[in-house]
Amino acid sequence: MTDSTPLSSAGDRHFDGLAEKFAGSLYGGPRGELRLALLDDLLPRLLDLDGQPLLDVGGGLGQLSAWFARRGHPVTLLEPAGDMLDQAREALDGLPVSFVQAPLQALLDHAPGPWQLIACHAVLEWLSDPRAAFATLAEGLAPGGQLSLMVFNRDALRMSNVVKGNLQKALDDRLEGTGKRQRLTPISPLSHAQVVAWSRECGLSIRGVAGIRVFHDYLRQPPASEDDWQRLVALERRYCQAEPHWRLGRYLLYTLTKDEPTNEERAP
Ligand SMILES: C[S@@+](CC[C@H](N)C(=O)[O-])C[C@H]1O[C@@H](n2cnc3c(N)ncnc32)[C@H](O)[C@@H]1O
Repeated sequence: MTDSTPLSSAGDRHFDGLAEKFAGSLYGGPRGELRLALLDDLLPRLLDLDGQPLLDVGGGLGQLSAWFARRGHPVTLLEPAGDMLDQAREALDGLPVSFVQAPLQALLDHAPGPWQLIACHAVLEWLSDPRAAFATLAEGLAPGGQLSLMVFNRDALRMSNVVKGNLQKALDDRLEGTGKRQRLTPISPLSHAQVVAWSRECGLSIRGVAGIRVFHDYLRQPPASEDDWQRLVALERRYCQAEPHWRLGRYLLYTLTKDEPTNEERAP
């Protein structure tokens, strides 16, 4: 396995040189198809959408930006990796999307907002300090603004390691990747408990949560037919917000809103 480009100076895994691999390994297969099918259902249910401008942080190849832009939202896609950005530019040609090459940590300088709507999907797990990044996202939101946050679920990663027979790794709790190789194992998988704690610290409220791929990643064998695939999609849709299943989704999808200042905080 070859080394990919080094981590950024902040210790994050920017996806420079990984655009092809990312497109193929995630969006090119059933996992990506399922993620997009679930987002299609969940985003309109979890978010109040009225065409407000969206900041897509770590927007990658732009699939999520495209989803919003096609529904009438002007989108700003912020992404540090040049080749991801180039591919996104090409794919989103003709849609109302502008592109900013910068990391999340520089968001307040490059796209200060404040924003009524921010999306940050599958990014925090690639950062060396996801807690600081979470605080920056909260700062970029306007009061009452919504953050659509998707994170790679540490509890699901433990479960899938056990299911695969990686028992010692699970027992040692050595779940995170190093980010130093081309393998796409996140360096900072997160738990629901962390998201709850950080939300409190940053004045955000969790308005909704769902698990993305609550069954698919634990299957012993892939669906044998198109009919079985459709049954799996129906099961994922039915149980993605149901206890206890959402908690073991490979990703956790949240809607967080920034609390409005109280009258006391507003007073001069
Ligand atoms: C797994 S991809 C997710 C892309 C997209 N949000 C999606 O859901 O398809 C992770 C993205 O985060 C980007 N990234 C890594 N470090 C970042 C940082 N410090 N700030 C913003 N984006 C970052 C990577 O370059 C990559 O495009």
